[in-house]
Amino acid sequence: MPLNIAVIYGSVREGRLGTRVAKFIVNKLKERKHDAVLIDPVEHRLPLLEKPHKYYEPGTAPEVMETLAKILTKADGFIIVSGEYNHGIPPALKNLLDHFYTKEFGFKPSAIACYSIGPFGGVRAAMQLRAVLPELKMPSIPTLFPVQKVHESFDENGNPLDDSYNEKADKFLDEFEWYANAMKEARKKGTPY
Ligand SMILES: Cc1cc2nc3c(=O)[nH]c(=O)nc-3n(C[C@H](O)[C@H](O)[C@H](O)COP(=O)(O)O)c2cc1C
Repeated sequence: MPLNIAVIYGSVREGRLGTRVAKFIVNKLKERKHDAVLIDPVEHRLPLLEKPHKYYEPGTAPEVMETLAKILTKADGFIIVSGEYNHGIPPALKNLLDHFYTKEFGFKPSAIACYSIGPFGGVRAAMQLRAVLPELKMPSIPTLFPVQKVHESFDENGNPLDDSYNEKADKFLDEFEWYANAMKEARKKGTPY
């Protein structure tokens, strides 16, 4: 069964590199016949958090927030594509995530694809995301998709320059699909809140 998956990418940096990983993940999801939507904070320009979406009367939030809320609510799960800024979560990503909550993310799985230009593949930011994502009601699956030396590992169109990333993505997405399908079935019977 096709799933609706939102791929949330979190850099607005000039010359950003993570688009390579985000495009790769979106392409892989499409190969698997899923509806994959890339959420790019450059296209969806949110302010620095002033008021989360849930504090607006229904339908009265700024258009960018309403648009994102609709995309996120429709999704069966989320793949977070995160770089590592000073061993932490990039601010545009945290800002985007903090605008939304249970209504959009609740009782759906997340998965973390992390990257950096260094040898550790952004795993230190991924460990911080492990703490944040359950609080947003979208616990992350066990397997990570870390990409080291992102500038050498993928080209600008999201094609891997190292074939091992295809195999790693298969394992990562097999596991993510399992959780997304299981939680989709479970949500049909209701959620605790
Ligand atoms: C403010 C800043 C902090 C960074 N800190 C780290 C870091 O702690 N560890 C690391 O491996 N790379 C670090 N980098 C390099 C990033 O891995 C690299 O710039 C990456 O491409 C950032 O993601 P982006 O291109 O999607 O913005 C940092 C880059 C910036 C701009």
